[in-house]
Amino acid sequence: DRVNASVSVDLDTPGARIEPEIQGQFAEHLGRGIYEGIWVGEDSPIPNTNGYRNDVLAALKELDIPVIRWPGGCFADEYDWRDGIGPRSERPKRINTHWGGVIDDNRFGTHEFLNFSEMVGAENYVAGNMGSGSPREMAQWLEYMTGSKPTTLVKERQANGRDKPWKVKYFGVGNESWGCGGNMRPEYSADLHRRYATFVKPQPGETVVKVATGANVDDYNFTEVLMREAVNQMDAISLHYYTFVGDWDHKGSATGGGRKEWVSTLSNALHMDELITKHSAIMDQYDPDKRVGLFVDEWGTWYDQEPGSTPGFLYQQNTLRDAEVAALTLNIFHRHTDRVKLAAIAQMVNVLQAMILTDGDKMLLTPTYHVFDMYKPFQGATPYPATIDTPEFSEGGKTLPVVDASVARGEDGQLYLSLVNLDPERAARVATDLKGAATGHILTGPKLDTHNTFDAPDTIKPATYSARPGRDGTLTFDLPAKSVVVVAIR
Ligand code: AHR
Repeated sequence: DRVNASVSVDLDTPGARIEPEIQGQFAEHLGRGIYEGIWVGEDSPIPNTNGYRNDVLAALKELDIPVIRWPGGCFADEYDWRDGIGPRSERPKRINTHWGGVIDDNRFGTHEFLNFSEMVGAENYVAGNMGSGSPREMAQWLEYMTGSKPTTLVKERQANGRDKPWKVKYFGVGNESWGCGGNMRPEYSADLHRRYATFVKPQPGETVVKVATGANVDDYNFTEVLMREAVNQMDAISLHYYTFVGDWDHKGSATGGGRKEWVSTLSNALHMDELITKHSAIMDQYDPDKRVGLFVDEWGTWYDQEPGSTPGFLYQQNTLRDAEVAALTLNIFHRHTDRVKLAAIAQMVNVLQAMILTDGDKMLLTPTYHVFDMYKPFQGATPYPATIDTPEFSEGGKTLPVVDASVARGEDGQLYLSLVNLDPERAARVATDLKGAATGHILTGPKLDTHNTFDAPDTIKPATYSARPGRDGTLTFDLPAKSVVVVAIR
């Protein structure tokens, strides 16, 4: 069973650059994300470099990760940065109240994070504590990390092993102030943002992008109030949106779903487009020149955590369905580059829609990892509008397009095309007006929940894919059901 679709591309109307940062990632002190997932310590039998596990580090380096957000999430608004500096054995032990009530002994702190980003080659996005910390603590943390003059804080950093300042490109003024970050009303959150952001001062000659904690999902009033009251004190505002199979109270299972769960999950993922459109329209009223970025700094699938895993650790499997969510979401970001300047998938390792899962010394790359790998050429690329003429299909009252597409010219001058076949059963033949020869990769699998396991870690991985031009020189693509393709067109 095969359907026909077409994609035509307007190469005369380039859009705003796809900032590399839209492929950013989020790493919170949550479950086995940092501890075990990234950091095992120098004494671990798991092969490591200065405490960072080698297998994870090598896999992450492959992704050209543009930016990493840390230390939370909800964790950020209870975090005292001073807990995470100095000799590790002397650092205080605190309860991680949000995530499992476990003890965090702070062996991963400011130095460990910033050195990690440096090893991975990513920019830093540090989220400060507006919920329970003081503006002075926030200001001093930034000085500790980025100061170059010989102040007491800078000397303390140097005594702790870091001579040169780090670059902190992005600084989050709190997180989810409407919820775990303080249960604030938007009016109060806007006032607090103004106050705290005043003290987030970059070093002379440096800049820092100040990110206001923004709306949850479709809380448009939150964006409205923050923009109205605090636009001059921010460079970006965040939006958080998670994809469930059902809703917050019916998150659903990561694996084992059928056609109905497939359709509702992908339909929920596509809702991102409406959210960005409507939040952007509000931002346009207060910032018509689009100076302020919309940072979707938490997104991804959130399922019921794996049976048997530690409560509160948000550990979930990752399947072909997650790969489709990732590709569709990145394509949506490509269509909103005038506003969306950064995004961070939640989260990097072992938490929610992770790139990587670990079990002891074993590691696997998820289908989401493979999508990010395939999408690397879109970092810094110039997008073009594409008209997609596609049949649709329905299930459980929800209707989806069969085909989604995104086209952009990479920094290397080549044209890149991504195609997603959302249909779980039918192949699609996609005619385009693009000319040349296309080579790249395809990600697909036999089942809706095809996934990798520690015993079979290569069950789903990209395969090479190519398409040749027809007699008129244009390219036609055959997409198997439930597949993601990215090609370079030469
Ligand atoms: O990513 C998990 C949590 O989701 C984050 O800590 C919080 O910001 C959001 O509610």
